[in-house]
Amino acid sequence: MDNVRILDKEFKLFISEKQIQEAVERMASRMNKELKGQKIFLIGILNGCFMFAADLIRNLDLDCTITFLKLASYQGTSSTGKVKRLIGLNEDIKDQVVVVLEDIVDTGITLDFIQKQLRGYEPAEIKLATLLYKPEACRQDVSLDYVGIEIPDDFVVGYGLDYNGYGRNLRQIYTVIE
Ligand code: IMP
Repeated sequence: MDNVRILDKEFKLFISEKQIQEAVERMASRMNKELKGQKIFLIGILNGCFMFAADLIRNLDLDCTITFLKLASYQGTSSTGKVKRLIGLNEDIKDQVVVVLEDIVDTGITLDFIQKQLRGYEPAEIKLATLLYKPEACRQDVSLDYVGIEIPDDFVVGYGLDYNGYGRNLRQIYTVIE
């Protein structure tokens, strides 16, 4: 399937299933080397990371546990309107080595926020891993430890990533046709 239509937009094939799997395996193999002998606490950020997290963890040869968190937005009373909150962390991550799993880093605002929130729980270390990274779009000074594939500043879907909720089921990654 080279082109797909999702809602009102047309997308073309951008990253094949093989390229995705190779990128995930490269990331896992670096983690296996660099984090060897340590207990690892993986934290996947929902919704987008579920496929990446499932494929990554199958390639990890480490003592690891995994949990998934979600960013919830609600209308706050501040002038900016929307306030975000990280929900779902019931485990104690104090003094643990945490690896955050993101599907994509665009402006970097989400990951920067997540990292700041997690620091409050006093983990020993926080490592950041993302399957996709848009360097041209990133406006935050987030230091990424593991990056799968760098991509241009275009909207993509598939492999967990959505357009208005749809397209997450696609096995390959597609980019929008303008
Ligand atoms: P950031 O805060 O701008 O880095 O964006 C992070 C979130 O925006 C990601 O976790 C995705 O949910 C979403 N996002 C950013 N770029 C894309 C894209 O190209 N396709 C689908 N979702 C995206």
